[in-house]
Amino acid sequence: RPDLAGRHFLKEVDFTAEEFRGLVELAAELKAAKKAGTEKQHLKGKNIALIFEKSSTRTRCSFEVAAADQGASTTYIDPAGSHIGKKESSKDTARVLGRMFDAIEFRGDAQETVETLAAFAGVPVYNGLTDDWHPTQMLADVLTMTEHCAKPLTGTAFAYLGDARFNMGNSYLVTGALLGMDVRIVAPKAYWPADEIVTRARALAAESGARITLTESVEEGVAGADFVVTDVWVSMGEPEEVWDERIKALTPYAVTMDVLRATGNADVKFLHCLPAFHDLGTKVGREIHAKYGLESLEVTDEVFESEHSVVFDEAENRMHTIKAVMVATLGRP
Ligand code: CP
Ligand code: NVA
Repeated sequence: RPDLAGRHFLKEVDFTAEEFRGLVELAAELKAAKKAGTEKQHLKGKNIALIFEKSSTRTRCSFEVAAADQGASTTYIDPAGSHIGKKESSKDTARVLGRMFDAIEFRGDAQETVETLAAFAGVPVYNGLTDDWHPTQMLADVLTMTEHCAKPLTGTAFAYLGDARFNMGNSYLVTGALLGMDVRIVAPKAYWPADEIVTRARALAAESGARITLTESVEEGVAGADFVVTDVWVSMGEPEEVWDERIKALTPYAVTMDVLRATGNADVKFLHCLPAFHDLGTKVGREIHAKYGLESLEVTDEVFESEHSVVFDEAENRMHTIKAVMVATLGRP
């Protein structure tokens, strides 16, 4: 398995397919060991800083639980309680935290910030989500796909429906391309990933044999898919004004039972990085319902709660895969 000691984890395209697959395999081993009660600790005495400029349930908890399982300790740093991004630059923060911690996780808006932290920290830096990429989510999603589809990854097809211009759409496109998968981006053209990212993905596909389809047609996009995936229509940090435009443009791309049926695959599985708007159980959900009369957005409750949905396996896998990233870069697996 490729040696990733000392490496950052900033975006998928920094890794070879072999390295990326190696992390997924390590995660599967760590998951099996935890379940069997035979997990060994590779991170004893390590200290990990967790910088969160944006909210998180899964990513924060994954880092904290994974570190604890492996014998490391974590320090949670939110922007309100620190100088980061206000009184102190990313470059200076990196050099301070790099003297105290063995690794640093960062979640925030700009990819540039996490790249700057990596350039100056002197210790591994992990991207816990930026506007451009969500690479730890991709490890979890690929692990989940391998658990729920008997085909090799190179034979696996997935269709991403929704706003593909942001972290999740970008990450799915390049990860599928890297791993040689059959990737379909299904959205109105204005919501496709930026040309530069499509070009990168096509270059990766030329190496890996991946199939890349960008289409506005749900029927064409989902036909024969093993997985249908989506994400929220309005991401963290976006202004409220975009709701109108998103709902208008993306409603035909909501994941419904009809969409799953259109795959022609009775075993099709549904993935969502979460949080999801599928019922009225949240404050935002109730506000959207009051304004637009909608009970769900990107996925119906029927799909979310169906036997097709593997979203909680996916959420659990965040922890096992984040553990793999820390063990591979900091420990001796
Ligand atoms: N999927 C994901 O990143 O979830 P959190 O925002 O809860 O970390
Ligand atoms: N696109 C979403 C992903 C959340 C995990 C966001 O950035 O808010």
